[in-house]
Amino acid sequence: MKEMTSQIVLITGATSGIGKQTAQALAQQGATVIITGRNKATAEQAVQEIRQQANSSTIQYLLADLATQTGVRQLANDFQKQYKHLDVLINNAGSAANTYQKTPDGIETNFAVNVITPYLLTTLLVEHLKKAPQARVITLMGGNLPKSVDLQNLQSEKGFDGLNTYSNTKIAMMCVMYEYAQQLKDTNITCNICYPGQAATEMTQNVTADMFPWLLRPFFPVFKLLTRPDGGKSAKKAARSSIFLASAAEVSGKTGLYVNKNVQIVPLPNFVLIANNRKKVWETVQTALK
Ligand SMILES: NC(=O)c1ccc[n+]([C@@H]2O[C@H](COP(=O)([O-])OP(=O)(O)OC[C@H]3O[C@@H](n4cnc5c(N)ncnc54)[C@H](OP(=O)(O)O)[C@@H]3O)[C@@H](O)[C@H]2O)c1
Repeated sequence: MKEMTSQIVLITGATSGIGKQTAQALAQQGATVIITGRNKATAEQAVQEIRQQANSSTIQYLLADLATQTGVRQLANDFQKQYKHLDVLINNAGSAANTYQKTPDGIETNFAVNVITPYLLTTLLVEHLKKAPQARVITLMGGNLPKSVDLQNLQSEKGFDGLNTYSNTKIAMMCVMYEYAQQLKDTNITCNICYPGQAATEMTQNVTADMFPWLLRPFFPVFKLLTRPDGGKSAKKAARSSIFLASAAEVSGKTGLYVNKNVQIVPLPNFVLIANNRKKVWETVQTALK
């Protein structure tokens, strides 16, 4: 395990679920942890609980709505004003919207939160990451691993398809963050991706039957049973892969890794390894930036 006491860690969307468990574990290891949330009362409550559970006072919060690019820019600004460098950025916040919705920037919500936000926040904080001796960027994958993604439907241009849309945006995110790993190869910044596995969190509580593909809809009750509230037990387990990438000495300096829910380094999906796919997703992201 890497020494975390001098480390500054920023975790997006850690007021609940997997992010909160990740924050707690890294604070327990001695890191200064900054979590983000949208609501002051919820964020304050989360900080208080993490401080108690981790027996650490080095937890703070910053408010940010990560569905808007203004919100992401504001978060980066607020962070830069308060902290001199950043050792670990965990792009944890995610969106699994159950209907087609656009953000104020005119971007489909899942694509905005799951793809644009990790890219933009990482970009805005690159100079702060460069000031750390060795910086790590970690982004959370989710959903099924489709063999292929329609690159013309990244923002549901041809139709919104519930959890398939969510999964597609997560693969698109992998393309962007793996491409970023290549671009940052000669710097002190590593860029890795992890899949946490299924956990009973607000996100899974909000999944509805109509988000399931038709063929899988009969299995919806099983999904609900597997993700019934369990007091954070499954979220704690799901946090292991983020914690590993944030703190394990064995991945120091290693970039472009994909870690599965059992905390094993596994090959990236073929779709992500195809440079042309990454190029197209990268271009879509650049076009969507304000
Ligand atoms: N749970 C699973 O089974 C599962 C499986 C695979 C992957 N994942 C991935 O793991 C990550 C964490 O998921 P989770 O299940 O732990 O979710 P969660 O419990 O629902 O937590 C979501 C967090 O993200 C924040 N958030 C959501 N939308 C936001 C927005 N627009 N702006 C700012 N913050 C926002 C929430 O903060 P506030 O609401 O307080 O603002 C909350 O802190 C996600 O990337 C998800 O895709 C989860």
